Amino acid sequence: MAAASLADRLRARIAADGPIAVSDFVDAALYDEAEGFYATGGQAGRRGDFITAPEVGPLFGAVVSNAVDAWWREAGEPDRFVVAEHGAGPGTLARTVTAAAGACLRADALEWVMVERSDSQRLQHPEGDHLRSVVDDHSLDRVDVVFANELLDNLAFDIVQRGDSSWFELRVGTDDTGFALVGGSPTATPAGVDDAPTGSVLPVIGPATDWVSERRRRFPKALLIVLDYAAATSALLEREGEWLRAYRGHDRVVDWLADPGRCDITIDVPTEQLAAIGSPIIETQATFLRRYGIDALVEEGRHAWEASAHVGDLVALRARSRLTEAGALLD
Ligand SMILES: C[S@@+](CC[C@H](N)C(=O)[O-])C[C@H]1O[C@@H](n2cnc3c(N)ncnc32)[C@H](O)[C@@H]1O
Repeated sequence: MAAASLADRLRARIAADGPIAVSDFVDAALYDEAEGFYATGGQAGRRGDFITAPEVGPLFGAVVSNAVDAWWREAGEPDRFVVAEHGAGPGTLARTVTAAAGACLRADALEWVMVERSDSQRLQHPEGDHLRSVVDDHSLDRVDVVFANELLDNLAFDIVQRGDSSWFELRVGTDDTGFALVGGSPTATPAGVDDAPTGSVLPVIGPATDWVSERRRRFPKALLIVLDYAAATSALLEREGEWLRAYRGHDRVVDWLADPGRCDITIDVPTEQLAAIGSPIIETQATFLRRYGIDALVEEGRHAWEASAHVGDLVALRARSRLTEAGALLD
């Protein structure tokens, strides 16, 4: 007998126990071992389903390499400096950081650990003296920097809605057409909300805040750097639910509930919910990239392009690409 599909398993669970938490549905849709989006080949990249900063081109990795050098120097240039990159995807950032060959790597101090939950993506990880690939960080004895690009906005989340007098949880049930959001129990007012019109919906990022707390508990001295789509709760309220996006093969998917496992599901992270667990500095990606030298790298590219444009060789094309990549990364 054929194994039940993910959709059938979710339907059976709802029929037996009633509507399930949105976070349970999203976690299964993204990470179910047999049919979750990331178990069945979904990934970042031009040939994948969505573009992320490391996939734009090598410039992002060059800036992160500068950042790693700065953090290594601030730490007193130890002999061993471990960066754990969580949600490493197919390993593109590890490749570009290694190619940038910063001072920490040249001193043989850098250990870049790609932490990736998806088996199919771990199989694509590059190998090298400074690289390791693991499914989680349990085996790591030391971590100096916890780094994650677009991980928190890709972890499961719940959804709450403002009723007439208080907030309540939405859950996933079924109706005649398929999976549908249905009302659940009353719940606390989300962090960052003063007032909100009846019917407003917001994400609650329990798995993401748990992930941050767990990294802090395990590696209390590590620097924690996360880059995600994020916004203040007041801005999310104005988007009327448009803080959730689903993608397949670079196309937006309108009904993210329709076909679990067949699309990526991602949200804008509400900054106050991170602040509520004591996350200290929140800044834009452009500020981060500028602090670690993106402008100088782009200037270098501009000079190289001006000097070699007439030749039109690989050097010229790489230099020009740096200019276009900067446009995308600083947007
Ligand atoms: C949006 S992708 C980002 C990939 C890459 N960081 C990039 O920017 O291109 C999120 C990745 O996080 C992985 N992931 C999700 N939860 C994880 C976890 N708890 N530990 C490690 N990786 C995880 C997913 O499998 C997926 O590859």
